[in-house]
Amino acid sequence: MNYDVEKMIDMAIAARSNSYAPYSKFKVGSAILTTDGKYHLGCNIENSSYPLSNCAERSALYNLYSNGYSKADIICMAVVAECDSPVTPCGGCRQVMAELLDENTPIILSNIKRDKIITNIKELLPLSFKLN
Ligand code: THU
Repeated sequence: MNYDVEKMIDMAIAARSNSYAPYSKFKVGSAILTTDGKYHLGCNIENSSYPLSNCAERSALYNLYSNGYSKADIICMAVVAECDSPVTPCGGCRQVMAELLDENTPIILSNIKRDKIITNIKELLPLSFKLN
C-alpha cells in the first residue's frame, strides 16, 4: 500500500519531541501508519531504574495494539533519532517487531538529516524466535 516516506519521517520526528530521556539524552521517535490513514506515535520513555525504560518502537507498537489495531492494519513504520546514520532498533525491539509486525512491512530507519534505510523485520531479525 502507498505511503509517503518523508511524511513518515515527519511524524516520527513529531513523536520524538515527546521523548522522556533525561538519562541517556538520546531522543527517539516512531510512527506507524495504518490502513485507515491514522498515524500511531511512540517515543522512548526512560526510568531512573534503567531497565524499565521503553524504546520508541515498542511504545508505538504497544500504543497501536492498545487501541485495537494489529499487524494486518499496518502499512509501514518509521523510527528517527539524532545520529550520524539512520537509527537501528535494539535487539529487544526487533524481537517484539517480529511478533507484532508482518515480516514484509516496510520499516523506515532515519535520522534528523533524513538519511534513510528502508528495510523490514525479516531482514532485521532473520530466524527470529516464534512459539509456533
Ligand atoms: N532507544 C530507542 O528508543 N530505540 C532505538 O532504536 C534505540 C534505543 C532508546 C532506549 C534509550 O531510552 C535510549 O534510546 C538510549 O539507548
